[in-house]
Amino acid sequence: MKPIQVGLLGAGTVGSGTFKVLLRNQEEIKRRAGRGIEITMVADLDAARAREVAGEGVKVVADAREVIANPDIDIVIELIGGYGIARQLVLEAIAAGKHVVTANKALLAVHGTEIFAAAHAKGVMVAFEAAVAGGIPIIKALREGLTANSIQWLAGIINGTTNFILSEMRDKGLDFATVLKEAQRLGYAEADPTFDIEGVDAGHKVTLMSAIAFGIPVQFDKAHIEGITKLAAQDIKYAEQLGYRIKLLGITKRTVQGIELRVHPSLVPSKRLLANVEGAMNAVVVHGDAVGTTLYYGKGAGSEPTASAVIADLVDITRLHTADAAHRVPHLAFHPDAMSDLKVLPMAEVVTSYYLRLRVADQAGVLAKVTGLLATAGISIDAVLQREADEVGGEGSTQTDLIILTHDAREGTVNDVLAELQALPTVLQPIVRIRKEELS
Ligand code: HSE
Repeated sequence: MKPIQVGLLGAGTVGSGTFKVLLRNQEEIKRRAGRGIEITMVADLDAARAREVAGEGVKVVADAREVIANPDIDIVIELIGGYGIARQLVLEAIAAGKHVVTANKALLAVHGTEIFAAAHAKGVMVAFEAAVAGGIPIIKALREGLTANSIQWLAGIINGTTNFILSEMRDKGLDFATVLKEAQRLGYAEADPTFDIEGVDAGHKVTLMSAIAFGIPVQFDKAHIEGITKLAAQDIKYAEQLGYRIKLLGITKRTVQGIELRVHPSLVPSKRLLANVEGAMNAVVVHGDAVGTTLYYGKGAGSEPTASAVIADLVDITRLHTADAAHRVPHLAFHPDAMSDLKVLPMAEVVTSYYLRLRVADQAGVLAKVTGLLATAGISIDAVLQREADEVGGEGSTQTDLIILTHDAREGTVNDVLAELQALPTVLQPIVRIRKEELS
């Protein structure tokens, strides 16, 4: 059978990896897919770069629409990124009856409802394994491997840049700004790292996983997003003394009230495997009612790891593209007419436990006042750590750090009590609050 023909939009790092891996493993891939898979056209504004990436006999064009208009192309790979032109091109490719493979988490997390509806109406597939956790086949696992389960929650380290920064901060005791500069110098962090360090990239990824896990529409606008820019080396150190590591987690949970969807730094017990995922690696823990807890670990970015996911999607589409559209795996795991209307909970309704650090005057009665206010709010304390004043503020210091770990509490209640604590004259600096996930 003639190879399936693929057009590539965007000849960057992942595009180049896709060419290399397809070429290197072409025989095995063909035996798995049932026919050959060939990229026959590449579009990139940088023609020289595209020419270098593309092999012999591949047509290189500057205009992506030439690829979409080519009737011989069955599948379009979108590796441009962003929500702008990428959205238009994906919708045009769908309208032209092409299947789409994309690594674009931002596009799907924000415009997924529109894109999946268009693909469903047209009877084509939009595959996005590469959009979440790079080479880790987490979309496949959630959508197919765990399909028997009622998924209860998942939590993941799904941004390599921030995990690298946190690992360095812990290892070397350095502050955020210093490590970020070093990460940029080494090429681990982008020149503009905003999406990574502010948690937005992880927010896009957890939004997609949440939709698949619970059969809800993609709703990035309802996700609670916090990054790592305000994390102090001191809190990483205190957390470690209490038996925890701080990780930027993407978390989504099913509760009786609705779905939690959030990204923020979290204390994780040091003994958990997830706490030991270091450097730029990614990992996702998924808890299903039947299977229990499962863990997926690997490279979340990079040329060939991401190409591995892109090609897995190409193989899936090649196997299924002649199948009746109704018999394919639904984009979001659940059939479009059987989606759930479970609401995404506002952060104030989320229930979790907390690490609180208060810089306080080292005076009699301060601890009693603080714990009294927590008790009145019904917030139970799990552990308290008080540093020597000298250790915190130098010899003769009259200030100290009070670190409190709480049991589970409703975030809205915690916000109220934090406002009361902050107003105490003996609380001398803004209170640090970091959420804590036991993941048990
Ligand atoms: N910038 C991402 C990361 C990879 O640091 O993990 C692509 O989503």
